[in-house]
Formats: sequence, C-alpha cells, structure tokens
Amino acid sequence: MNNSMRTFYGWFTFLGLVIGGLVILGYYRDEYREWKQYQHRFIQEEIRRATTPQQKALAETTRVEVRQILLPELNRVDRCTTCHLAVEDPSYGGYPQPLAYHPLHEQHPFEKFGCTICHRGQGRAATGADAHGSVPHWDQPMLPMKYIQASCGQCHEAADNPAAPELARGQQVFETSGCRGCHKLGGVGGNIGSELDKVGARRSPEWLKQHFLTPSAVTPNSAMPPQKFSDADLDAIVLFMLSQTGESAPGYYASMKVIPSASQGQRLFLQKGCIGCHSIAGQGGKVGPALDDVGLRRAPEWMMQHFRDPQSVTPGTVMPKFGFTETEARALTEFLLHLRERNVVSSLPSLMNPVERGHEVYRKYGCAGCHGLDAKGGVPNPNAKTAEQVPGLIYVADGYTKSELNTRILKGQREIPALDPKRAPPPLYMPAWGAVIKDAELDDLVAYLVSLKPKGEDVGF
Ligand code: HEC
Ligand code: HEC
Ligand code: HEC
Ligand code: HEC
Ligand code: HEC
Ligand code: HEC
Repeated sequence: MNNSMRTFYGWFTFLGLVIGGLVILGYYRDEYREWKQYQHRFIQEEIRRATTPQQKALAETTRVEVRQILLPELNRVDRCTTCHLAVEDPSYGGYPQPLAYHPLHEQHPFEKFGCTICHRGQGRAATGADAHGSVPHWDQPMLPMKYIQASCGQCHEAADNPAAPELARGQQVFETSGCRGCHKLGGVGGNIGSELDKVGARRSPEWLKQHFLTPSAVTPNSAMPPQKFSDADLDAIVLFMLSQTGESAPGYYASMKVIPSASQGQRLFLQKGCIGCHSIAGQGGKVGPALDDVGLRRAPEWMMQHFRDPQSVTPGTVMPKFGFTETEARALTEFLLHLRERNVVSSLPSLMNPVERGHEVYRKYGCAGCHGLDAKGGVPNPNAKTAEQVPGLIYVADGYTKSELNTRILKGQREIPALDPKRAPPPLYMPAWGAVIKDAELDDLVAYLVSLKPKGEDVGF
C-alpha cells in the first residue's frame, strides 16, 4: 500500500463521519420542525380531551404529517392546515394560534376554498415565516388582518356584501371622493392618473397610505391632491385599493358575485319601475297595494314565489312576471322586508329627485376630484389662471344656459389658460365627457349644477 492510498483512506473516514453527523443533525432538525411541534401539541390536546378509550386510541394514532388542500381550479396547494389544525372544530374557539377555530367558514368550506385565496401568503410553505409570506422575493405577502376584507372583492360585488362592511365603505369613499375624475377603474374615469384596476397587486398598504396623505412624498411633483380623510376612511380606501388586483375567480367561485342584499333590491326596485304601480312612503302608483307594511302581511317564501310567478299565488293579477333570477328575487324580498326601517324609506324619495340623482352623477364620474366635494373648488392646479386652482361650480347657473352647460361638459377643455406662459402648463384640465355620461344622467347632472346657486343670491355682472 503506498502513501497516497493511505491519505485517501484518511479522507474516507473523515467524510464518513461528516455524512453521519449530517444525517443525525437532519433527523433532529426534521423531528423538531416547527409544524411537527404544533401537530404533537394538537395530538396531546386531543388525548387530554378524550373521554372514551376509543377516542383516546383514535387520537394516539393520528399521524404526524404534512396536510394539504388541493385546489386545481384555483391553481393552488394550501398546506396552512399543517399547523392550523383545528380551523373546523368549534370547540377550539379562542385557543392560541395556530390551534384556533376559524369563524365564518360555513359559506366557504375549506376543502373548496383553502386559505390563500382570502389570506394570500404562500400556500406550499411549511414554516410560519414562509407561509405567512414574510420572506424576500415572494410577491404575495399575507394580507394584514386589518385589510382581510380586501380579498372578498375577487368574488363578490364590493357594495353588497353584508359580511364585508369595510370593503363597502372603501368603495363608498372611492365613489364619493372624485377619484374617477382622474383615474379609470373598470373602464370608467379620467386619464390624468393611472388605471387602478391592478393597483392592489403593485402597491403595499404602507405606500398607499403615505400616498393618500401626501402624494408628493412618494411621487415627486404628483398632480394628485392630498386627500383629507378621517382615519377610518383612510383605512377603508387603502383596503379598497388592495382589493383591486385585477384577478377574478373562475367558475363556481364567481357564482355568488352579487350577494342578495336590501340595497341591491332597492336598486332593482327603482330600475324595474315597480313604483309605477306601487307606492312607498306615499309616493308612487296605486294599481297595486302600498308596500310599506308588506313585510307584516306576507312571508318571505310567499314573496319569492310571487316574484317567480305572480299568477301562481294571485291568479288573474296584472303584476307582470319579470323573469328575475333567484338572486334578484331574494334581493327584492330582502329590500321589502327591510322597508319598515326608517333609513330605507327616507332614502327612496331622494332617489326619485333629479337634483339628488344629479349629485350622485357628479360623484360617480369624479367631478368632485377636481371641482371639490360640494363643487366649491379648492383643488390645486399650479399655474392655472383661476387662482391656481380648479374653480368651483356654485355659480355656473349665472354664466351658462342649460344647453351651454351640456356642451361644456360633453366637450371638455384641454387647454387651461396659464398664469405664466413660461412655467409648465396647469396639470389638470377638463376632460370631455361626451362618450361617457348617458343622456339621462347629463340632465340630472345639469339640474344639480343649476341648483347649486345659493337661494336669494344674485351676482350682477
Ligand atoms: C409552520 C406552521 C404554520 C403554517 C404552515 C402556517 N401558519 Fe399561520 N400561524 C402560525 C402561528 C404559530 C401563528 C401565531 C403566531 C404568529 O402570528 O406568527 C399563526 C398565525 C396566523 C394568522 C394570524 C395573524 C395575525 O396577524 O393575527 C393568520 C391569518 C395565519 N396564520 C394564516 C396562515 C395561512 C393563510 C397559512 C398558509 C398560507 C398559514 N397561516 C400557515 C403557524 C403557521
Ligand atoms: C373566505 C375567506 C377566508 C378563507 C377561505 C379563510 N379565511 Fe381565515 N379569516 C378570514 C376572515 C374574514 C377572518 C377574520 C375573521 C374575524 O375576525 O371575524 C379570518 C381569520 C383568520 C385567522 C385569525 C386571525 C386573528 O387575527 O385571530 C386565522 C389564523 C386564519 N383566518 C387562518 C386561515 C386558514 C389557516 C385558512 C384555511 C384553512 C383560512 N383562514 C381560510 C377569511 C378567510
Ligand atoms: C374565491 C371566491 C370567494 C371569496 C374570495 C370570498 N367568497 Fe364569499 N362566497 C363565495 C361563493 C362561491 C359563495 C356561495 C357558496 C355556496 O353557497 O355554495 C359565497 C358565499 C358567501 C356568503 C353567503 C351569501 C348568501 O347569502 O348565501 C357571504 C356572506 C360571503 N360569501 C362573504 C364573504 C366575505 C366576507 C369574504 C371575504 C372575507 C368572501 N365571502 C370571500 C365565493 C367567495
Ligand atoms: C386631480 C386628479 C387626481 C385625483 C382627483 C385623484 N388622483 Fe390619484 N393620482 C393622480 C395622478 C396624477 C397620479 C400619478 C402620480 C402619483 O403617483 O401621485 C395618481 C396616482 C394614484 C395612485 C398610484 C397609482 C399607481 O399607478 O400606482 C393611486 C393608488 C391613486 N392615485 C388613487 C387615487 C384615489 C383612490 C383617489 C380618490 C380618493 C385619487 N387617486 C384621486 C391624480 C389624481
Ligand atoms: C381632471 C380634473 C377635472 C375633472 C375630473 C372635471 N373637471 Fe370640470 N373643469 C376642470 C378645469 C381645469 C376647468 C377649467 C377651468 C378654467 O376655465 O380655468 C373645468 C371647467 C368646468 C366647467 C366650466 C366652469 C366655468 O366656470 O366656466 C364646468 C361646468 C365643469 N368643469 C363641469 C364639470 C363636471 C360636471 C365634471 C364631471 C362630469 C367635471 N367638470 C370634471 C377640471 C376638471
Ligand atoms: C303593472 C303594475 C305592477 C307592477 C309594474 C308591479 N306590480 Fe306588484 N302588484 C301589482 C298588483 C295589481 C298587485 C296585487 C295582486 C297581486 O298580489 O299580484 C301586486 C302585488 C305585489 C306584492 C304583494 C303585495 C301585497 O300586499 O300582497 C308585492 C310584494 C309586489 N307586488 C311587489 C312588486 C315589485 C317589487 C315590483 C317591481 C319589480 C312590482 N310589484 C311591480 C301590480 C304591479
């Protein structure tokens, strides 16, 4: 045996020891994996709770293994239940995480929905830090619990989800703060800011919050005016932005787009012209009975059947068969049952008034974003001749006839007179609304603008 062979053996022995050591270390690391500890803890708890020998035996034979939910339609594999073991067991209500029961899952069974469709995060991971998505290079961090309702918007209409009030509030803030004056969402809105359909996928909650408070702090020289929101509205609008990921769920998951609610029923009630035959709060037709107290006279099942086919419950009636879907019928029934609540009745007459409707149009298309919430002006427009602001519209009735106003709104105005021609032109201009606003909406909008002039006040020229 020569010398070089001997050194070779020495190396073999050394390598053997290293490998052996790694195997033992690996075994220990495996045995002490985070998730295994939670499973042992869970099994201990099950054994402790067992009251019969059978239950005890069952608990003792529970296997320690990675658990997963396969969701081919959603293109996901969620292993969260490897640690969150008791999500479906109400007797674990209030336990420390990850062993707590999950409320509100009856409508979204875990075997069909998994977890990440709502929480985001990394479904396949088996450590808490990875799963919760707080690792570098993972673009789907878990949604902070504060913003969890942002996820509901993928599958449900934001406004009509009674279980997601924060999301509904966010949409309300969006629709009433004039964002659409400068931004498109779902194809409707202006061009001065970017489209917001996917903004929730590219911006973090912190960025959004900062940007609303002081846009120029994160985007130097931003033309977006700082927003004066209450804390609750700020959280709600950030949440609503996070909900805009541009993703929508497929097939079955999208089947409950609209959750039947009273507000949706109210919209249908106005659209379908029920008021032509029925009255509420003294307004409307007399062909059919007044509906204020219909909830006391009729059971929900009766109403549903009556909507499906009026003749089947009231033979010979003149009430038309509208051909509603089940969801629509549920929404209308929901609305009629809630009619006796004062806020519902008091909001109806206002929707029948053109000036009130015009105010809605003003908000809907984001006029408020440039002309101010109550059309009083004040939004900065650097270098514009009109006091470096977008002007208010309170006195337009003095300067324009109704048809001139129509034209002004439909045509817009691209060039805004500059205070100083040497400086950059004013960033905000009046968009042309011709292809956007419908005729009936325009009439209401003009009625609103004309109504703004304070009563008894006349400015002379
Ligand atoms: C390795 C075990 C483990 C895995 C895997 C795991 N979690 Fe957790 N989870 C925990 C623990 C432990 C806590 C409590 C401590 C904490 O907040 O980190 C927790 C807390 C949470 C919370 C509460 C956070 C809060 O802010 O209150 C949510 C929500 C959550 N997990 C969701 C998920 C989702 C979704 C997945 C799958 C993508 C997942 N978890 C996978 C262990 C795990
Ligand atoms: C349909 C959407 C949805 C799905 C699917 C879903 N969750 Fe949740 N989860 C929520 C909501 C909403 C809450 C807040 C509930 C509340 O506070 O009332 C929540 C709360 C939690 C909490 C408690 C956080 C806290 O602050 O205490 C944990 C942990 C959690 N979920 C984990 C999971 C896991 C694990 C799964 C999958 C097995 C899952 N969730 C599936 C929507 C969902
Ligand atoms: C991936 C799609 C999806 C997501 C995300 C989702 N849901 Fe749902 N939701 C559904 C589907 C589908 C149903 C109908 C389930 C069924 O009846 O089979 C449903 C049913 C419901 C219902 C019952 C509706 C009724 O009146 O019958 C409520 C309430 C609800 N979801 C609220 C929420 C909330 C709150 C969130 C966010 C935390 C949320 N959903 C997230 C798809 C989703
Ligand atoms: C007067 C016009 C104007 C109004 C009104 C306005 N924005 Fe903007 N917004 C802009 C401009 C211009 C930008 C691009 C520069 C910047 O990032 O600040 C922008 C940027 C943004 C961004 C970042 C977009 C991206 O691509 O990441 C968000 C989010 C946003 N706006 C949301 C809103 C919301 C929500 C409202 C209503 C509360 C609103 N904006 C009102 C002009 C406006
Ligand atoms: C992106 C900002 C922006 C939006 C959104 C916007 N405007 Fe304007 N608007 C302007 C500017 C700038 C002017 C020109 C003011 C001037 O002459 O300097 C203007 C002018 C007007 C005028 C003429 C005012 C006058 O005193 O001569 C009317 C009327 C008007 N806008 C109505 C509307 C209505 C209604 C909407 C919503 C459908 C709307 N605007 C949306 C920026 C905007
Ligand atoms: C062409 C007139 C007409 C229209 C339009 C109409 N209805 Fe009726 N409706 C009637 C008449 C007549 C009755 C009484 C006979 C009956 O029970 O069908 C009635 C009965 C009802 C009842 C039962 C009232 C009670 O006290 O028993 C309800 C609820 C109702 N309508 C709701 C609606 C709704 C909601 C709409 C709109 C989607 C609508 N109706 C549209 C004529 C109309």
